[in-house]
Amino acid sequence: MRLSARISYDKKIFIDCEKNIIPAQAVNLSLLGIKIKDSFDHCIDVDVLVMLELDQDISLRGRVVRNEKNEHVILFCEDPKVIASTVGKYLTQKIYESKKCPFCSKSIEKDEKYCKRCGMFFDYTKPEVVRFVQDFKVGKVFYDLLIEHPEEIDEVINKDTEFIGVSKEMRTVFSLIRKYATNDYPVLIIGETGTGKELTARAIHERSHRADKPFVAVNCAAIPENLLEAELFGYEKGAFTDAHKRKIGKIEFANGGTLFLDEIGDMPPNMQAKILRFLEDLSFSRVGGNEIIYADVRIIAATNVDLDKAVEEGRFREDLYYRLNVLTIKLPPLRERNEDILILAKYFLNKYSKEVGKEIKGFSKEAEEALLSYQWSGNVRELINVIRKAVVLTENKVIKEKDLDLKRNGFGEIYWVKTDSLNLKENIERLEKDLLKKAFIVANGNITKMAKLLGISRPKVYSLIEKHKIGEVN
Ligand SMILES: Nc1ncnc2c1ncn2[C@@H]1O[C@H](COP(=O)(O)OP(=O)(O)OP(=O)(O)O)[C@@H](O)[C@H]1O
Ligand SMILES: [Mg+2]
Repeated sequence: MRLSARISYDKKIFIDCEKNIIPAQAVNLSLLGIKIKDSFDHCIDVDVLVMLELDQDISLRGRVVRNEKNEHVILFCEDPKVIASTVGKYLTQKIYESKKCPFCSKSIEKDEKYCKRCGMFFDYTKPEVVRFVQDFKVGKVFYDLLIEHPEEIDEVINKDTEFIGVSKEMRTVFSLIRKYATNDYPVLIIGETGTGKELTARAIHERSHRADKPFVAVNCAAIPENLLEAELFGYEKGAFTDAHKRKIGKIEFANGGTLFLDEIGDMPPNMQAKILRFLEDLSFSRVGGNEIIYADVRIIAATNVDLDKAVEEGRFREDLYYRLNVLTIKLPPLRERNEDILILAKYFLNKYSKEVGKEIKGFSKEAEEALLSYQWSGNVRELINVIRKAVVLTENKVIKEKDLDLKRNGFGEIYWVKTDSLNLKENIERLEKDLLKKAFIVANGNITKMAKLLGISRPKVYSLIEKHKIGEVN
């Protein structure tokens, strides 16, 4: 899905390429850049200045690249503010003049900010929208998010599946996704179940130059040890009793694209050795064959087990671990990023209520508090299931606490002992901080309410807040 509207722009432009001024015929214009008809091979990957006529003559810094169809495009490298006030303003004006949505062609009224059919946003005069487009290149600017959380718009990555998060932790994840997408090194994604490991792997793939090639996922824990090798590398006819004909393995399928090795921590030792060998030079042979096959794949691995410990205990090869553990992404559990809980909950509430045709306005205050204080051991996947069930079962216009059916956990198991430390003082400090954080959220920062929940005096609450810097954390 495209994010930025592309409008036809049939005009002559001038390109200043290393002090040579070259005329070119433009084809279309978007927030990201301008497509040109002419061939500019001698300027590929060179920083240029593009002179074009919008409401007035302007020049913008850009870079000539070839797109996936081998056409020449000049990508703008300007500050979002500059793009918003020039190209953004022009695009917005043209969209309204055309009176139809540039994405789905539905006719639009004069003051409509977004398309009532496809939800796309029309106003490109805002720098945050430009930044969003520049960062992600794909996706959809959600009107709701833009209006309700304008500061968070660039924290949403969206392609076929939406990837949502506004917490500091998730912002770091998004920025790593963008960085890692620009190269071919292996990536290791670490996180509890349901935190979005596969989503992260796909997001990297979709933003990489491999995006139009396959993304192939293999769950190393779900395939029996004796079949995993054939699954990954394929086999030749006659390699074993049931091998009636040659079969291509997942690695060959992924050629040019990305191979996602899920639950790599559960990969049997002999397979670990074979994958390591494959990683050395990206070549392998099918089971029962001698032919050396080369496959250009990027490996992204994920695990929910502590690989450090697995290495220590001899369950995971140290050399493979070091090979994979260069570019890593740690996905924080949902309970450690409270800011994301409500935004995810609202997003999925919206999505599922539309799906089942119910008009549900939001959550009651108590329901929000319950969502925030719940333990979420199944992370985002569990949250999705809870919301979906609540949407289907509720007869209310607003989701109430009882619709969520989270009661059994009270405030959740807020604290779990870090298995790598039994130090009493350290663990008590953590417990104190976690309880305080939960109380802060549940009480919405109200000190009297916090004191009551925690069973301590108000001055004590103040001193603990200061000690643990709770206001700053939240
Ligand atoms: N930040 C997020 N925004 C939107 N959806 C999310 C987010 N994180 C996870 N999800 C959704 O939650 C579900 C679980 O995510 P995913 O399968 O990527 O997790 P996982 O870490 O691979 O889980 P597991 O370890 O159980 O395989 C998916 O439906 C995914 O789309
Ligand atoms: Mg997974």
